Amino acid sequence: MFQKQITRADLVQDFHRFGIPFGGLLMVHSSLSSIGYVTGGADTVVDALLEVLGPEGTLVVPTFTDESAMNPSFIFDPSSTPSMVGAISEAVRRRPEAHRSIHGWHSVSAMGRLADAIAKDVGLSPWLPDGPMSKVIDYGGEFMLLGVPYKRLTLVHLMEWECGVTYRPGRIVEVQMRCPDGSIGKLVNLECPPESPFPGNDFNRLGRAMEAEGIVRLGVVGNAITRVFQGRDVRSMSRKLHQKDKQAFLRQGGVVTELSYGNNVSMPRGDLCVVDPKVIYRAY
Ligand SMILES: CC(C)(COP(=O)(O)OP(=O)(O)OC[C@H]1O[C@@H](n2cnc3c(N)ncnc32)[C@H](O)[C@@H]1OP(=O)(O)O)[C@@H](O)C(=O)NCCC(=O)NCCS
Repeated sequence: MFQKQITRADLVQDFHRFGIPFGGLLMVHSSLSSIGYVTGGADTVVDALLEVLGPEGTLVVPTFTDESAMNPSFIFDPSSTPSMVGAISEAVRRRPEAHRSIHGWHSVSAMGRLADAIAKDVGLSPWLPDGPMSKVIDYGGEFMLLGVPYKRLTLVHLMEWECGVTYRPGRIVEVQMRCPDGSIGKLVNLECPPESPFPGNDFNRLGRAMEAEGIVRLGVVGNAITRVFQGRDVRSMSRKLHQKDKQAFLRQGGVVTELSYGNNVSMPRGDLCVVDPKVIYRAY
């Protein structure tokens, strides 16, 4: 099938439609293939985001490893352990000017004016007030879901923690880490895996509530259904929902709330939100 090639200029034009402030702070969860074929791949998307944010702006991405971080033989090397949450996040991590937070499992990488403030001097956990995601909210930052559903909005785990949900009690984990001098040290982090029985999360419910309030800017970037919103709005809506219903972040009857816009496509590595499933780019 003929596939349109999406250029940096196309991406910049699409990103501009979301009213992202010049000099702003943006944390992005993304899928590259959902956009369609991008000339130059993930780096082009990063360049376009940086152009829209401007030289005073800040771009943050998750650079999580996965459960393998809990494997006793795993060694987290902030300078080389790849991000396992998408090609765009990995492209940010690889930039020489990116700062990565020191969390063995749930690190972020940040570039730009507030990169140090967001990713350096973080405490024990991404889930505490001195963690990167809380700082993004406190600095007035926004979040973008680029071709992925609310399920990927890790911030909601922080909201679960802030709301005091009982199914994520928090536990101290120790991860081996390669230090800048090459030696192996110990990294102590607090993580919040759910306790069983656990029905699974449903963050789409929160997303639908935010969309009903009109606080989500919805649009497209290439073929990717994209959502942008304020971190502070996620916090206030989370508190409101959780006050009404202690199960607000959990699946009800095993079902995840459907989203109203675009096509939600189940792919082997995760669900994507797109205009046309046929335009999702596969390299093979
Ligand atoms: C898992 C996830 C990243 C998969 O999305 P994806 O689009 O398939 O994968 P990536 O973003 O890594 O992009 C790589 C894919 O883009 C495609 N691709 C390659 N070159 C491309 C190009 N030039 N243009 C567009 N797509 C391209 C390829 O299909 C490639 O897949 P492959 O590595 O299997 O060949 C996505 O579903 C997701 O969940 N993203 C959010 C992750 C997150 O933030 N998690 C944190 C909370 S849980």
